[in-house]
Amino acid sequence: MHVDLVLDFYKELSEFNKLVVFLILLGCVVGLLVSNIVTFWGRQKRISEINELKKARDAALREKKELEDRFIALDKVDDHVWKRAVQGSPPAFVSRSKRKTRFISICNLKGGVGKSTLAGNLGLALALRQHAVLMIDLDFQRTLSGYVCDIELLVNARSKDQTSKHLLNPTADVKIVHQYALTIPAVPRARIIPADEGLELVEYTQQARFYVNPAYEVRFLLRRLLHDEAITEQFEYVLFDCPPRMTTACINALTCSDAVFLPTSLDQVDIDAVYRTLKWLEELKDFHDIEMVGVILSKCQMRKGRLTRQELQQLKNLEERLKQQSPDNTVVFDSQIPDSPVIGRSAALRRPSVLDDETRHWFLDLAEEVERRIRHETG
Ligand SMILES: Nc1ncnc2c1ncn2[C@@H]1O[C@H](COP(=O)(O)OP(=O)(O)OP(=O)(O)O)[C@@H](O)[C@H]1O
Ligand SMILES: [Mg+2]
Repeated sequence: MHVDLVLDFYKELSEFNKLVVFLILLGCVVGLLVSNIVTFWGRQKRISEINELKKARDAALREKKELEDRFIALDKVDDHVWKRAVQGSPPAFVSRSKRKTRFISICNLKGGVGKSTLAGNLGLALALRQHAVLMIDLDFQRTLSGYVCDIELLVNARSKDQTSKHLLNPTADVKIVHQYALTIPAVPRARIIPADEGLELVEYTQQARFYVNPAYEVRFLLRRLLHDEAITEQFEYVLFDCPPRMTTACINALTCSDAVFLPTSLDQVDIDAVYRTLKWLEELKDFHDIEMVGVILSKCQMRKGRLTRQELQQLKNLEERLKQQSPDNTVVFDSQIPDSPVIGRSAALRRPSVLDDETRHWFLDLAEEVERRIRHETG
């Protein structure tokens, strides 16, 4: 009924008015269409924004889960972070038959047993016996650097920041080894990369990174750098002077080495540290390829060139215990370095004992024994 009325009304309109009504109606329809399209478009936009937000939320949740897992893993890490399983494959330990270099860590987890004195004098003695030797000071106390290095060369190396801490950089280039290795004027076949205090910070930083992120591997940095033809073609011996703690540098020296030399006196406290260090080596055996452990008696009490009766007894006990604890590859060297005031003073005088007529023979004898044993024990 209403529709008929509307149609009658429309028919009675002039042509012009009909056109106006038509245009009004058309405008309404187009307006309606446009508003629908705008609403639809806005909704689509909101949907895609919501999807983006969902993706961001999922990513944040994943990250949160990863962090939670990492914290749970951290909670389970005891103080032996170095025993953590290796993720991926570490740099290759180049087979001993393929290189002339022997890598030796001078290591003992006890301080003051004569590691640096031994590293310096043994390194120089091997060089005096015509071998190309590289000594690397891995202790931020830098005793070895001060002991064998010419003071001016040392000051210069430090001012140029050319010290051993840079060897613990995962992207270090082997060229820096040659660049940083200082020649020792009195013994030209011997070279040394000195340490500085900055090593301590580098070690802590690397250890902390590894601690929070097990994928950030820091235990094979020296192996990666030094098991390289640029080194193994040039040096016959590389000696690491380790600190008396299982630091980043120390674990790196071990994973790079063929042999460990453990200096000790025959004092019971020092001997106990030998067992402790051997235990560590055993616990870390999945990470290193050490073929020989040589216990070297340093600072031992001697009378007329022979051990005192009490020291002989201590030596016997030590040898027996070593047979039980690590029967295969541990030897006690025949050469012995006595507790000598002349050697003691050499550190203060910065004059290595192997360059002193009175004390030279002890270290030359030891070097001869090292050559003999190391070729025999490590192929
Ligand atoms: N055979 C020796 N006779 C007498 N004194 C020695 C002998 N060997 C080392 N010393 C002295 O013992 C002290 C400690 O020696 P050295 O620095 O070599 O030990 P270390 O094990 O490297 O110490 P640290 O663990 O602090 O690095 C030094 O004063 C050094 O001169
Ligand atoms: Mg030392």
